Order: sequence, then structure tokens, then C-alpha cells
Amino acid sequence: MPPRRKYFDMYDISSFKIKPEPVILGIESSCDETACAVIRGRKLLSSCIISSAAEQAKYGGVVPEIASRAHTEAVDEVVLKAFDRAGVAVGDVDAVAVTYGAGLLGALLVGLSFAKGLAYALNIPLIAVNHIRGHLAASYLDDENLQPPFITLLASGGHTAILHTFSYSKFEVLARTLDDAAGEAFDKCARVLGLPYPGGPNIQRAAEGGSAVIDFPSAQVKHSRDLAFSYSGLKTAVINYCHNLAQKGLAVPAADVAASFQRAAIEPLVLNTVRLACERGIGTVTAGGGVVANAYLRQRLTEECKKCGLKLVLPQIAFCTDNAAMIAAEGLNKYLAGEFSPLDINAAAHIPLG
Ligand code: KG4
Ligand code: ZN
Repeated sequence: MPPRRKYFDMYDISSFKIKPEPVILGIESSCDETACAVIRGRKLLSSCIISSAAEQAKYGGVVPEIASRAHTEAVDEVVLKAFDRAGVAVGDVDAVAVTYGAGLLGALLVGLSFAKGLAYALNIPLIAVNHIRGHLAASYLDDENLQPPFITLLASGGHTAILHTFSYSKFEVLARTLDDAAGEAFDKCARVLGLPYPGGPNIQRAAEGGSAVIDFPSAQVKHSRDLAFSYSGLKTAVINYCHNLAQKGLAVPAADVAASFQRAAIEPLVLNTVRLACERGIGTVTAGGGVVANAYLRQRLTEECKKCGLKLVLPQIAFCTDNAAMIAAEGLNKYLAGEFSPLDINAAAHIPLG
């Protein structure tokens, strides 16, 4: 390790005291949402988001340069809004939790640099949070008394997995996708159907007017010992189905395609989550990630958990997609464990799930 520069010597991580009910400021800027939230202990005081999604929609997806510029323009405003709504002053903050990865580097650096500046100026702990750990921590916001262990369904734009969560910091991956993530598949299917970005909510909307009558292949990998998922076969089936109709000059029944895709994509996630909870004798199921905002998934997971007598803790829809409340929630777990970050921590585009 090269010696730390003088500038950072003035910031001494080992000098910070841990309070039982800290006020934590969360900052998130990994993709197209600039978000800031304030929590006191597990109580959420405010959560604000300024999104560049509408601007990104013109290009059919997230353009990294546009995202970085939008974060730069929005970060001050969103932080001030979060303080105002929480009724908290800058000087009341005990720690700053911020996403350092995974995500778009230029976008991450805006939030991370802002958080470093604030932590240094206030001489309070900086807590660098893995975005995916943030998605997993969103459930803690919904139930202040929630404690591991539980079985967790993670379904986002970059990850799809079922985890056994042992403690606030330890989990085991029980099942995962072999290729695309579920959210990616929703976005690709939306593109094939000519639906705008972001794809997931638009597939959900289209599916509401249709029926799941088309027999697309399930995202469940057959004969897999490890309950693996695969979304590439399902995606190809949707593309082929639409192209075949188009070649014959026939209209694509978009609502039925959306409903059929949604069923094939989500059923194995729900059934395997519940199956693993039962097999492992774990009575509580949690979930996180953008796809968990999906109404069909929420309804099916609720039904199946009820059938099997499992307690289900689902984050509110606003805390499934990207937000800073979940970053603050994971920040609290790390704060209480004394896991503070040095000021020279860098942003990371990729962080393995575990
Ligand atoms: O968790 P997230 O912000 O992504 C990562 O952190 O990777 O989730 C974004 C993903 C996108 O793929 C989006 O299409 C999907 O979540 N999504 C949905 C819904 N809302 C967002 N997918 C299905 N139904 C929804 N209602
Ligand atoms: Zn996310």
C-alpha cells in the first residue's frame, strides 16, 4: 500500500464513535436517478429522487454522459430537498452512506465525490455501499423489526438470484441466472414490442390488457440441480414469435405477448423462492430490485407465501427501483458494524454478487 497523502491523514476513521440511533444521509447516483434520503435509526425521514429517465427515453436507454451531467445538475437540489423534508440540518447528520458501485462510473463519481466532500467537511463517517446490497436492505425500511435470517429474491436490471440471508452482512447464493437478468429481459422484450424505455413498467401496463395464452419457454432451466434461471431462451422466443408474425404481415398481439412473457419470466422466481424457504426451514421471505416493483410478481409471491405460511416482507414499490433510502438502510447496517470507508475509496463499475 502506498502511504496515504497528508490530506487524508486529517480524516481518522478510527476516531468515530458509534451511536445507537444515528441520522444517516443516503446518496445514490449509479444510473439515471439522482437520489437522497435521510433516516434516523431505521425510521425513514425523507426520500427524494430527481430522474433523467424521461430524457434517456428519447434515446431508448441510458446514455452514460447524459446521466453524469444530469447527476451533476441535480445533486445539490436533491440533497437540500431531502434535508428540508426530513426537518434535519446538515449538522445533525452522523454519517453519509453512498453508492460506490456497481453502475456507470461517471454517474457514480458524482454522488461519491459529493459524499466524500460532505463527510470530510463534517468529519463524520463515509460509508461506501454496494448498490445491490442496498436493494437487499430495502426490506428493512418496510419492517423496522425485521431481522435475518430470510430467503431473499433479488431481481433487478443487473442481477437475478435467490439468496439465503444469514445476517446483515452474510448471504449465500442459492440460485442465479446463467445469462441475462430478469430486468434486462423485460427491457429487451419491451423493445421488441416497440414499448418505450424503461421497459419493465411498460410491459406490466401492456400485460394488464392481455392474457398469458402464448406458450413461451419458462425462465427455469430444466434439469438444473441448482435451480438456475435463463432469460436468453425466453427473449429469443419472444423475438422469433414477433418476427414470424411480422413476416406474414400479421399484427403482433402486444398485450398477450407481454402477459405471456411476464408469466414465463416471473413464475420460476416466485415458485423457487418459496420452495427454497420451505426446504431450508426459513419462515421469512424478502425481496429487492426493480423487477420486484412488478404487480404480477408481488401478487404471485404474496399468494404463494400465504399458501405455505411464510411471512413476506416486500419493500414499497418506490424502494424496489433505484432510491437512496435503501442505500441509507444498508449504510445503517454498516455503521452499526463500524464499517467505515477511507476517503480515497474509488467508484467501481462492477462488483460481483458474492
Ligand atoms: O433494480 P434496478 O434499478 O436495476 C439495477 O439496479 O440493476 O431495476 C431496474 C430494472 C429495469 O430492468 C426495469 O425494466 C425493471 O427493473 N423494472 C420492472 C418494473 N419496474 C422496473 N420490471 C418489471 N415490472 C416493473 N413494474
Ligand atoms: Zn438498482
